[in-house]
Amino acid sequence: MTEQALKELLDSMTLEEKVGQLVQCNAGQFIANQLEITGPGGELLPAEELCRVMGSVLTFEDAKQAKALQDMHLAADPKKIPLLLMLDVIHGLRTTYPIPLAMGCSFDDDLVAECADMARKESAACGVHVTFNPMVDTARDARWGRILETNSEEPLINGRMGAALVKATQGRDLSDPENIACCVKHFAAYGAGEAGRDYNAVDVSERMLRETYLPAYKACLDAGARLIMPSFNALNGIPSVANKTLMNRILREEWGFDGVVISDYDAVGELVTHGVAADAKDAARLAMEAGCDIDMVKNAYYLHLAELVREGKISEETVDAAVMRVLRLKNELGLFENPYHGADEKAEEELYLCPAHREIARRAAEESAVLLKNECILPFRKSIKKIALIGPFAEETRLNGFWSRPGAEKYTVTIPEGIRALLPDAELLIQKGCGAEFGDTDTEGIPAAVRAAEEAEAVILVLGEPENYSGEGRSRAELNLPGPQMELARAVLQVNRNTAAVLFNGRPLVLTELAESAPAILEMWYPGTEAGNALARLLWGDANPCGRLSAGMPRSVGQYPMPYNRTNTGRPKPPPDDRPAPFSSCYLDMPNLPLYSFGYGLSYTDFQYERLTTDRKTIHKNEELKVTVTVRNTGKRAGKETVQLYLQDPVASVVRPIQQLIDYRKVFLEPGESKNVCFTIREQQLRFFDFTAHEVSEAGEFRVSTGYADHLILTESFILAD
Ligand code: BGC
Repeated sequence: MTEQALKELLDSMTLEEKVGQLVQCNAGQFIANQLEITGPGGELLPAEELCRVMGSVLTFEDAKQAKALQDMHLAADPKKIPLLLMLDVIHGLRTTYPIPLAMGCSFDDDLVAECADMARKESAACGVHVTFNPMVDTARDARWGRILETNSEEPLINGRMGAALVKATQGRDLSDPENIACCVKHFAAYGAGEAGRDYNAVDVSERMLRETYLPAYKACLDAGARLIMPSFNALNGIPSVANKTLMNRILREEWGFDGVVISDYDAVGELVTHGVAADAKDAARLAMEAGCDIDMVKNAYYLHLAELVREGKISEETVDAAVMRVLRLKNELGLFENPYHGADEKAEEELYLCPAHREIARRAAEESAVLLKNECILPFRKSIKKIALIGPFAEETRLNGFWSRPGAEKYTVTIPEGIRALLPDAELLIQKGCGAEFGDTDTEGIPAAVRAAEEAEAVILVLGEPENYSGEGRSRAELNLPGPQMELARAVLQVNRNTAAVLFNGRPLVLTELAESAPAILEMWYPGTEAGNALARLLWGDANPCGRLSAGMPRSVGQYPMPYNRTNTGRPKPPPDDRPAPFSSCYLDMPNLPLYSFGYGLSYTDFQYERLTTDRKTIHKNEELKVTVTVRNTGKRAGKETVQLYLQDPVASVVRPIQQLIDYRKVFLEPGESKNVCFTIREQQLRFFDFTAHEVSEAGEFRVSTGYADHLILTESFILAD
């Protein structure tokens, strides 16, 4: 359709029909007249009426249902405006790949794109038009259960991976039935909720907002994302969906975003609970004034928007502008010509869990695992035949993470299956040992686990968090291994030192005791469908671990907040970190540094950094310089190293981080091979937000280093001249 035709369509619509384009309901609401809610409250509306007016729908099952929904709606809607179908496809549809936090540990934007590409194909076949992805909320507190949905504590990684995902998902042309649109979320700073509690208030300075939280959303919009979702939280006192500074000033005026803004689940209605709206009508007014186009799921717009227009409290032009944005999106997706878009039962069958997709998911699971400790235990020798597989997750199928689709566990390759596929002759002694839920105190299974450990040549100790302990609404105050898991670990480690601990969890955990006692620890996160295959290959060396932590792991919850890019203070703690230093910024009862720092991770081979050079000593505004890092594989196995580049600005008008990641690249090296990894630093990357929140770069000395956080090596300096 032309823009003119869309305008004519808009002009032909009644006010009620326009409002309908701005409401979204759950598929269940008009299929089975069921209201599925993730928030409190909610009214049930007549299914037929919903079906006729609704502009969009979320959360449906498959291509068959997608087509049925579209048919039902088009038959009822006199204007025949197709429905937009949206779904949370976050880390795969049927073929599940690792949770975003794990993908962050891959430090590999291309791998993110490859995974997104596979998810796009499966989603399009399922009938999805819009995915509520990427989630790029920079998160620095693992108490927040949604840290699993983000790639990193570092906005650079979130922005780069988010942009890669957007490009791979949307493709060049959204009307291509194999492409779908992206909705970036949750705008803004949702990850900074006080005390790590989900939905909690966020209070950050504008400087912090612009430096740490906004860049990742902006990067995704620059990559072309067509929608954005304001966050649940109040930001500096105003819930995002009603936050005019955020949405009108920053998003629309400053960034020029002309796509669709969709609220989070009942976030408009929740303005009443927040205490900024008197009732649902007031909430609808506030959200509309702040530029929220679509009201997800509940009824604030549906019930009150037309009335607000009639009363002159909201202008019809405002509603028209929102409706046009929705119509344009539908048009871009080609829905007026092809309302089913890519929905295709046959394609679903062909694509879901096909060998090519499984291969990508397995590779992603391998590349995002982080080897945290290894005292010459791993990789296991293939001649080892008797293996004890011990722990509450030894035979677990729920290794997919919060946003995996319902039923994903049916397709998980379990650990025993993975080991048997790699080592058909292996004898597995499987013992659960204990549970892993909060209230679990039962230790009756531990003696049998100990006997298995005594008998076995090697032990795989499978620990972690139940899958439903991380995700939306799943914050924790403690970050230990729940239940009696440490008791099990102590008992097993006492009888067999040839033990590798393997972890499945959705957030950085406090592993302080395990790190002291276990000779090897492999962090698998939630790896998805190919969990067992990836793990077996990693343990026996068919795959070489190469993940690096994209968020530091604390020694204790008490260390939060502990961003890797902290500032120095006037009294930084002098080394060594393991004992307090008088009148310095330190804890009396624990080191300052995390247990495992941002960027850390081991490999089965060794890498040596030989040289770091810059091609010039001075740059000016809008110029760039090249930094070359030479890295060599000095070990006996081929492997991948993540070369990280950190910046320091030792003197500036505001305090600057002691280490700031500004680039990264993953390189593959054969044994003995060395490579030069070349980075370009542009003057723009030296900029920061000054005290008045204006972006500036200031003349003076800058330093670049490689290594990883808290362990920088090979520093060189250069000058930014006036
Ligand atoms: C979550 C969003 C999600 C939406 C739709 C909300 O509860 O916060 O991330 O996209 O539900 O399922």
